[in-house]
Amino acid sequence: MKGEGIGFGKTILFNEHFVVYDIPSIVSAIGNYTVARIEPYDKAKVELVDNRKATPNYKEEKLTQQQDSLKRMMATMNIDPSKNGIKITLEGNLYVASGIGASAASCVAIARALSNYFDMNLSDEEINNIAYEGEKGYHGTPSGVDNTASTYGGLIWFQKGEEKAIEQIALHYPIEIVIGNTGKVANTKAAVAGVRERREKEPEKYQAIFDRAENIAYLAKDAFEEEDFKEVGKLMNENHKLLQQIEVSSRELDFMVKLARDAGALGAKLTGGGLGGNMIALTPGRELQDTVANAIEKEGFQTVKTVVGASRKEA
Ligand code: MEV
Repeated sequence: MKGEGIGFGKTILFNEHFVVYDIPSIVSAIGNYTVARIEPYDKAKVELVDNRKATPNYKEEKLTQQQDSLKRMMATMNIDPSKNGIKITLEGNLYVASGIGASAASCVAIARALSNYFDMNLSDEEINNIAYEGEKGYHGTPSGVDNTASTYGGLIWFQKGEEKAIEQIALHYPIEIVIGNTGKVANTKAAVAGVRERREKEPEKYQAIFDRAENIAYLAKDAFEEEDFKEVGKLMNENHKLLQQIEVSSRELDFMVKLARDAGALGAKLTGGGLGGNMIALTPGRELQDTVANAIEKEGFQTVKTVVGASRKEA
């Protein structure tokens, strides 16, 4: 429809936080997405109506960041809100929470919707760049991993910096995962700043952790390419340990990770900024996915059952 755009949610399988320091990461779009719809508005301003289903307090806590994000995107697209009265409505089947790419999905959806509404005909690369500007409103200094997954879909090897890479990792079939929500809204900006501070204080300790994170990324890529999901799971468990060591996990995240592993998940770790938000468990096959999701839900947490590695059409 004219003036409509979508952005996928995402889950990071390897190396959130480390990716900010140019270490490779592996991220996947998920099947759930946000839709933005643009309509003319009779006042010379931008009205944003956020109808997304969300974790309690998420929308309230992110409101200032959302407004900042929107301003940045409009400026990048040279759209003057005082000359173009528009109403933007956000909805879709992505349940909005920390760690699931909600901000990136909304940025990509809005950029696509604006491009369509104003007949700009922008490429994916341009949409990705605009969404990256939007992400700055939420993250400060985002790596770009979230908006990249949200724009392109699929399972992606992502690295920023001198060795910048955005490569699809092809799987023969998508793999089931469970995403568990702590119900706690987390501040990614603060989580990233905390890592920076501690890394500066303890450079040697952090260097060793970062070196191992880099190794894990390459091992995980090989394991995905060989479709050795047991190995992928083991590496996810190790990646979680590194994330604990840089102090971005939380009691609830560790608890859910343990629940998932005890229920038979091949691997489990926090996903995204941490300090609340979501965890991910690798659960190939519907049966294992149901078992793990039930174990998490029994403790009162919400889950999303979805897949990683779906192509853009399937996602
Ligand atoms: C947040 O989804 C991922 C982080 O690595 C931040 C970023 O990459 O911008 C924590």
